[in-house]
Amino acid sequence: MAAKKLVFLNQKGGVGKTTSCANLGSIIASMGYKVLLVDLDSQGNLSSAVSADTMLPGTYELIAGGKDQDFVQNTPVQNLYCLSGGINLAGLNVELANLNDRNHYLKKALEGFDDIYDYIFVDCPPDLGILTMNALAWTKYVFIPMQCEYFAMEGLNLLMRTVSNVKKSLNPEIEIIGIGFMMYSKRSNLSNEVVEDISNYFDKLVFKTKIPRNVRLSEAPSHGLPINAYDNSSAGGKAYRELALEVIDRAI
Ligand SMILES: Nc1ncnc2c1ncn2[C@@H]1O[C@H](COP(=O)(O)OP(=O)(O)OP(=O)(O)O)[C@@H](O)[C@H]1O
Ligand SMILES: [Mg+2]
Repeated sequence: MAAKKLVFLNQKGGVGKTTSCANLGSIIASMGYKVLLVDLDSQGNLSSAVSADTMLPGTYELIAGGKDQDFVQNTPVQNLYCLSGGINLAGLNVELANLNDRNHYLKKALEGFDDIYDYIFVDCPPDLGILTMNALAWTKYVFIPMQCEYFAMEGLNLLMRTVSNVKKSLNPEIEIIGIGFMMYSKRSNLSNEVVEDISNYFDKLVFKTKIPRNVRLSEAPSHGLPINAYDNSSAGGKAYRELALEVIDRAI
Protein backbone atom coordinates (compact mmCIF):
# COMPACT_ATOMS: atom_id res chain seq x y z
CA MET A 1 0.00 0.00 0.00
CA ALA A 2 1.22 3.48 -0.84
CA ALA A 3 2.22 5.78 2.01
CA LYS A 4 -0.42 8.05 3.51
CA LYS A 5 0.67 11.64 2.96
CA LEU A 6 0.10 14.49 5.39
CA VAL A 7 1.25 18.10 5.41
CA PHE A 8 1.21 20.28 8.54
CA LEU A 9 0.13 23.69 7.32
CA ASN A 10 -0.42 27.12 8.80
CA GLN A 11 1.15 30.31 7.46
CA LYS A 12 1.19 31.65 10.98
CA GLY A 13 4.34 31.00 13.00
CA GLY A 14 4.48 29.18 16.32
CA VAL A 15 1.06 27.51 16.23
CA GLY A 16 2.24 23.92 16.74
CA LYS A 17 2.97 22.60 13.24
CA THR A 18 6.34 21.11 14.14
CA THR A 19 5.22 19.85 17.57
CA SER A 20 2.26 18.06 15.99
CA CYS A 21 4.28 16.64 13.11
CA ALA A 22 7.00 15.23 15.38
CA ASN A 23 4.70 13.86 18.08
CA LEU A 24 1.96 12.42 15.89
CA GLY A 25 4.62 10.86 13.65
CA SER A 26 6.42 9.36 16.63
CA ILE A 27 3.28 8.01 18.28
CA ILE A 28 2.10 6.44 15.02
CA ALA A 29 5.58 4.92 14.56
CA SER A 30 5.40 3.46 18.07
CA MET A 31 2.21 1.66 17.01
CA GLY A 32 4.29 -0.28 14.50
CA TYR A 33 3.86 1.82 11.36
CA LYS A 34 6.88 2.98 9.42
CA VAL A 35 6.88 6.78 9.40
CA LEU A 36 9.04 9.30 7.53
CA LEU A 37 9.20 12.89 8.77
CA VAL A 38 10.23 15.40 6.11
CA ASP A 39 11.53 18.72 7.41
CA LEU A 40 10.74 21.40 4.80
CA ASP A 41 11.66 24.33 7.04
CA SER A 42 14.99 26.14 7.05
CA GLN A 43 14.66 26.47 10.84
CA GLY A 44 15.23 22.68 11.08
CA ASN A 45 13.05 22.42 14.20
CA LEU A 46 11.45 19.14 13.21
CA SER A 47 14.86 17.55 12.70
CA SER A 48 16.11 18.74 16.09
CA ALA A 49 12.92 17.50 17.77
CA VAL A 50 13.80 13.93 16.74
CA SER A 51 17.60 14.23 17.09
CA ALA A 52 18.26 14.32 13.34
CA ASP A 53 21.39 16.21 12.30
CA THR A 54 20.53 19.39 10.34
CA MET A 55 24.10 19.54 9.00
CA LEU A 56 23.76 16.21 7.16
CA PRO A 57 22.22 16.04 3.66
CA GLY A 58 18.42 15.94 3.85
CA THR A 59 15.38 17.44 2.15
CA TYR A 60 17.32 20.12 0.29
CA GLU A 61 19.80 17.67 -1.21
CA LEU A 62 17.00 15.28 -2.19
CA ILE A 63 15.04 18.04 -3.95
CA ALA A 64 18.18 19.42 -5.56
CA GLY A 65 18.69 16.16 -7.38
CA GLY A 66 20.02 13.34 -5.25
CA LYS A 67 17.52 10.51 -5.50
CA ASP A 68 19.21 8.75 -2.65
CA GLN A 69 17.56 6.91 0.21
CA ASP A 70 20.74 7.32 2.24
CA PHE A 71 19.74 10.88 3.20
CA VAL A 72 17.15 9.44 5.56
CA GLN A 73 18.30 9.45 9.18
CA ASN A 74 17.31 7.20 12.05
CA THR A 75 15.77 8.75 15.15
CA PRO A 76 15.63 7.63 18.81
CA VAL A 77 12.21 6.10 18.07
CA GLN A 78 11.96 2.77 16.30
CA ASN A 79 10.18 2.94 12.91
CA LEU A 80 10.53 6.74 12.86
CA TYR A 81 12.83 8.27 10.22
CA CYS A 82 13.69 11.82 9.23
CA LEU A 83 14.83 13.77 6.19
CA SER A 84 16.44 16.75 7.84
CA GLY A 85 15.78 20.39 7.02
CA GLY A 86 18.07 23.32 7.55
CA ILE A 87 19.38 26.59 6.30
CA ASN A 88 19.95 25.34 2.71
CA LEU A 89 16.19 25.25 2.23
CA ALA A 90 16.04 29.04 2.57
CA GLY A 91 17.86 29.38 -0.78
CA LEU A 92 15.64 26.86 -2.53
CA ASN A 93 12.77 29.37 -2.78
CA VAL A 94 15.04 31.50 -4.96
CA GLU A 95 16.53 28.59 -6.90
CA LEU A 96 13.08 27.29 -7.86
CA ALA A 97 11.40 30.66 -8.43
CA ASN A 98 11.97 30.87 -12.19
CA LEU A 99 11.39 27.24 -13.08
CA ASN A 100 8.15 26.29 -14.83
CA ASP A 101 7.56 23.18 -12.76
CA ARG A 102 8.74 24.83 -9.54
CA ASN A 103 5.85 23.49 -7.46
CA HIS A 104 6.47 19.83 -8.27
CA TYR A 105 10.01 19.27 -7.08
CA LEU A 106 9.11 17.71 -3.74
CA LYS A 107 6.64 15.39 -5.42
CA LYS A 108 9.34 14.14 -7.80
CA ALA A 109 11.86 13.86 -4.99
CA LEU A 110 9.58 11.75 -2.79
CA GLU A 111 8.35 9.40 -5.53
CA GLY A 112 10.61 6.55 -4.46
CA PHE A 113 9.47 6.70 -0.83
CA ASP A 114 5.82 5.82 -1.38
CA ASP A 115 6.30 2.08 -1.18
CA ILE A 116 8.72 2.16 1.75
CA TYR A 117 6.70 4.00 4.40
CA ASP A 118 3.19 3.71 5.83
CA TYR A 119 3.01 7.44 6.57
CA ILE A 120 4.99 10.42 5.27
CA PHE A 121 4.56 13.68 7.22
CA VAL A 122 5.86 17.01 5.89
CA ASP A 123 6.40 19.97 8.22
CA CYS A 124 5.94 23.31 6.40
CA PRO A 125 7.61 26.65 7.10
CA PRO A 126 5.32 29.45 8.37
CA ASP A 127 4.52 30.93 4.95
CA LEU A 128 2.73 30.09 1.72
CA GLY A 129 5.87 30.27 -0.44
CA ILE A 130 7.22 27.88 -3.04
CA LEU A 131 8.29 25.20 -0.54
CA THR A 132 4.83 25.10 1.00
CA MET A 133 3.29 24.93 -2.49
CA ASN A 134 5.56 21.95 -3.21
CA ALA A 135 4.18 20.23 -0.12
CA LEU A 136 0.59 20.98 -1.18
CA ALA A 137 1.18 19.74 -4.72
CA TRP A 138 2.47 16.44 -3.30
CA THR A 139 0.08 15.63 -0.46
CA LYS A 140 -3.29 13.97 -0.07
CA TYR A 141 -4.06 15.34 3.41
CA VAL A 142 -3.60 18.71 5.08
CA PHE A 143 -3.52 18.92 8.87
CA ILE A 144 -4.17 22.46 10.15
CA PRO A 145 -2.93 23.19 13.66
CA MET A 146 -4.61 26.25 15.16
CA GLN A 147 -3.97 28.28 18.22
CA CYS A 148 -7.08 29.39 20.10
CA GLU A 149 -6.57 33.11 19.63
CA TYR A 150 -8.40 36.16 18.42
CA PHE A 151 -7.56 36.20 14.69
CA ALA A 152 -7.84 32.43 14.28
CA MET A 153 -10.86 32.60 11.96
CA GLU A 154 -9.21 35.09 9.56
CA GLY A 155 -6.12 32.92 9.24
CA LEU A 156 -8.23 29.85 8.74
CA ASN A 157 -10.20 31.45 5.91
CA LEU A 158 -6.96 32.24 4.06
CA LEU A 159 -5.82 28.64 4.50
CA MET A 160 -9.13 27.28 3.21
CA ARG A 161 -8.87 29.50 0.12
CA THR A 162 -5.28 28.39 -0.45
CA VAL A 163 -6.16 24.71 -0.26
CA SER A 164 -9.15 25.19 -2.54
CA ASN A 165 -6.98 27.03 -5.11
CA VAL A 166 -4.41 24.25 -4.95
CA LYS A 167 -7.17 21.71 -5.53
CA LYS A 168 -8.22 23.53 -8.71
CA SER A 169 -4.79 24.13 -10.13
CA LEU A 170 -2.05 21.91 -8.70
CA ASN A 171 -3.50 18.87 -6.98
CA PRO A 172 -7.11 17.63 -7.35
CA GLU A 173 -6.44 14.94 -4.69
CA ILE A 174 -5.86 17.34 -1.82
CA GLU A 175 -8.20 17.49 1.16
CA ILE A 176 -8.15 18.82 4.70
CA ILE A 177 -7.93 15.94 7.16
CA GLY A 178 -8.79 18.17 10.07
CA ILE A 179 -8.28 21.26 12.17
CA GLY A 180 -6.49 20.61 15.46
CA PHE A 181 -6.60 23.01 18.41
CA MET A 182 -3.21 23.53 20.03
CA MET A 183 -2.11 25.06 23.34
CA TYR A 184 -5.69 24.96 24.55
CA SER A 185 -6.51 26.05 28.09
CA LYS A 186 -9.97 25.11 29.20
CA ARG A 187 -10.06 27.87 31.80
CA SER A 188 -9.54 30.61 29.20
CA ASN A 189 -12.73 32.23 27.96
CA LEU A 190 -11.04 33.26 24.73
CA SER A 191 -9.86 29.69 24.06
CA ASN A 192 -13.38 28.40 24.55
CA GLU A 193 -14.97 31.10 22.39
CA VAL A 194 -12.58 30.46 19.53
CA VAL A 195 -13.09 26.70 19.74
CA GLU A 196 -16.85 27.18 19.76
CA ASP A 197 -16.88 29.58 16.79
CA ILE A 198 -14.64 27.44 14.65
CA SER A 199 -16.36 24.21 15.62
CA ASN A 200 -19.76 25.69 14.73
CA TYR A 201 -18.49 26.80 11.36
CA PHE A 202 -16.26 23.90 10.37
CA ASP A 203 -18.17 21.20 12.21
CA LYS A 204 -16.75 17.69 11.63
CA LEU A 205 -13.52 19.04 10.19
CA VAL A 206 -12.43 19.89 13.73
CA PHE A 207 -10.66 17.08 15.59
CA LYS A 208 -12.36 16.11 18.86
CA THR A 209 -9.05 16.04 20.73
CA LYS A 210 -7.65 19.40 21.80
CA ILE A 211 -3.97 19.61 22.72
CA PRO A 212 -3.53 21.39 26.06
CA ARG A 213 -0.76 23.82 26.83
CA ASN A 214 1.71 21.50 28.53
CA VAL A 215 5.24 22.26 29.64
CA ARG A 216 6.48 18.72 28.88
CA LEU A 217 5.58 19.28 25.20
CA SER A 218 7.74 22.39 25.10
CA GLU A 219 10.66 20.71 26.93
CA ALA A 220 10.80 17.54 24.83
CA PRO A 221 12.43 19.08 21.69
CA SER A 222 15.38 20.39 23.71
CA HIS A 223 16.12 16.74 24.57
CA GLY A 224 15.72 15.70 20.92
CA LEU A 225 12.84 13.44 21.92
CA PRO A 226 9.18 13.30 20.87
CA ILE A 227 6.72 13.33 23.76
CA ASN A 228 6.16 9.56 23.83
CA ALA A 229 9.89 9.03 24.35
CA TYR A 230 10.29 11.97 26.75
CA ASP A 231 7.26 11.78 29.03
CA ASN A 232 4.64 9.43 27.71
CA SER A 233 2.25 9.85 30.64
CA SER A 234 2.19 13.68 30.53
CA ALA A 235 -1.07 15.42 29.68
CA GLY A 236 0.47 16.40 26.33
CA GLY A 237 1.47 12.81 25.62
CA LYS A 238 -2.01 11.53 26.36
CA ALA A 239 -3.67 14.16 24.20
CA TYR A 240 -1.38 13.51 21.23
CA ARG A 241 -2.07 9.76 21.54
CA GLU A 242 -5.79 10.43 21.23
CA LEU A 243 -5.25 12.80 18.34
CA ALA A 244 -3.06 10.19 16.61
CA LEU A 245 -5.96 7.72 16.71
CA GLU A 246 -8.23 10.29 15.08
CA VAL A 247 -5.63 10.93 12.37
CA ILE A 248 -5.24 7.20 11.66
CA ASP A 249 -9.03 6.86 11.43
CA ARG A 250 -9.37 9.72 8.98
CA ALA A 251 -6.35 8.93 6.78
CA ILE A 252 -7.91 6.09 4.84
N1 LIG B 1 0.70 22.19 23.44
C1 LIG B 1 1.79 22.88 23.73
N2 LIG B 1 2.09 23.23 25.01
C2 LIG B 1 3.19 23.96 25.30
N3 LIG B 1 4.06 24.39 24.39
C3 LIG B 1 3.83 24.09 23.09
C4 LIG B 1 2.70 23.32 22.70
N4 LIG B 1 2.73 23.17 21.34
C5 LIG B 1 3.82 23.81 20.93
N5 LIG B 1 4.50 24.38 21.96
C6 LIG B 1 5.70 25.20 21.90
O1 LIG B 1 5.38 26.37 21.18
C7 LIG B 1 6.43 26.75 20.30
C8 LIG B 1 5.93 26.75 18.85
O2 LIG B 1 5.54 25.44 18.50
P1 LIG B 1 5.99 24.82 17.09
O3 LIG B 1 7.44 25.00 16.87
O4 LIG B 1 5.43 23.44 17.02
O5 LIG B 1 5.16 25.76 16.12
P2 LIG B 1 5.35 25.93 14.54
O6 LIG B 1 3.99 26.26 14.01
O7 LIG B 1 6.03 24.77 13.96
O8 LIG B 1 6.31 27.20 14.48
P3 LIG B 1 7.04 27.79 13.16
O9 LIG B 1 5.95 28.45 12.40
O10 LIG B 1 8.07 28.73 13.66
O11 LIG B 1 7.61 26.61 12.42
C9 LIG B 1 7.54 25.73 20.54
O12 LIG B 1 8.44 26.27 21.45
C10 LIG B 1 6.83 24.54 21.13
O13 LIG B 1 7.66 23.76 21.97
MG1 LIG C 1 7.76 24.72 12.79
